[in-house]
Amino acid sequence: MKWRINFDFSGTTTVVTGGSSGIGLATAELIAKSGWDVIVTASRSAEKTKKAIETIQNAAQAVGKEVLVKAFPYQAENEDSVKTFFTEVKKVSQRVDFLVHWVWISPDTDFDEQTAELWNQVFATNVTGTFLALKSAKDIMKTQEIIDEVRGRIVLITSTNGVDSYGIFSAPYDASKAAMINMVRNIWEDFHKNHQIAINGIGPGWIATEMNNTVPAEEMAAEMQKVWSGRMATPEEIAQNILAYLTLPYNSGRDHMVDGWYR
Ligand SMILES: NC(=O)c1ccc[n+]([C@@H]2O[C@H](COP(=O)([O-])OP(=O)(O)OC[C@H]3O[C@@H](n4cnc5c(N)ncnc54)[C@H](OP(=O)(O)O)[C@@H]3O)[C@@H](O)[C@H]2O)c1
Repeated sequence: MKWRINFDFSGTTTVVTGGSSGIGLATAELIAKSGWDVIVTASRSAEKTKKAIETIQNAAQAVGKEVLVKAFPYQAENEDSVKTFFTEVKKVSQRVDFLVHWVWISPDTDFDEQTAELWNQVFATNVTGTFLALKSAKDIMKTQEIIDEVRGRIVLITSTNGVDSYGIFSAPYDASKAAMINMVRNIWEDFHKNHQIAINGIGPGWIATEMNNTVPAEEMAAEMQKVWSGRMATPEEIAQNILAYLTLPYNSGRDHMVDGWYR
């Protein structure tokens, strides 16, 4: 059995979907700083992608790490696009040790204004998109050698909203995250038992990102009283949790809430 002595993950390749933006980008930066190669899905904005690549490369260089950083086009709900992305990944890196899946949409709207089209769009991106990423990653991972008892490790970013809904305006998003939490447990049966691919969910609570700037101050203050530390997590803290779950042995098939003990 091959083991990675002293938590040395240099030479590994991690795919971060949604890694050109927000918390996905913070995750990609931490991975590069840790000396792991990282391939992100390109943003649909070429400028954003260029900036993200520079940010990730600079993060690695600042701590003296030489890593491969790449981005390839990606349309989450389109099977051909997802397959092509993973084919490109395989061409440059030969393998995918880790997958972190961040891609999402959450078009919050009053319930009466929600349409079937909106629900379908959220489910296509968040749920079918997750299925397609898992399918392509599995095809690569299942052929790899076993290291630390697994051929690859996957973290799906779920949300505490998948368990404790916050408001009816985000009903489609909350339902899609509940579906992803179920997928972690369901898909584990095949991925881990039959193919030695570990899969976990990480369900962040409140994270200090742009999306939360629109929450009214009073509402946010009341929410922060429910968190033991009285504050939101930073994107970097969530990234640290992801790295931990990507490397922890004896850990698979569960959704783990990272919510600062929200109650
Ligand atoms: N902030 C919080 O408090 C909080 C709490 C719990 C969970 N989360 C989770 O955090 C995750 C991301 O948050 P974030 O703030 O980092 O979001 P973000 O900056 O909006 O990033 C979303 C990413 O998904 C990509 N994307 C969206 N739809 C796509 C599609 N159809 N095809 C390809 N790419 C697509 C976007 O690409 P483009 O640049 O092309 O748009 C972007 O890279 C979500 O899964 C969310 O559920 C956040």
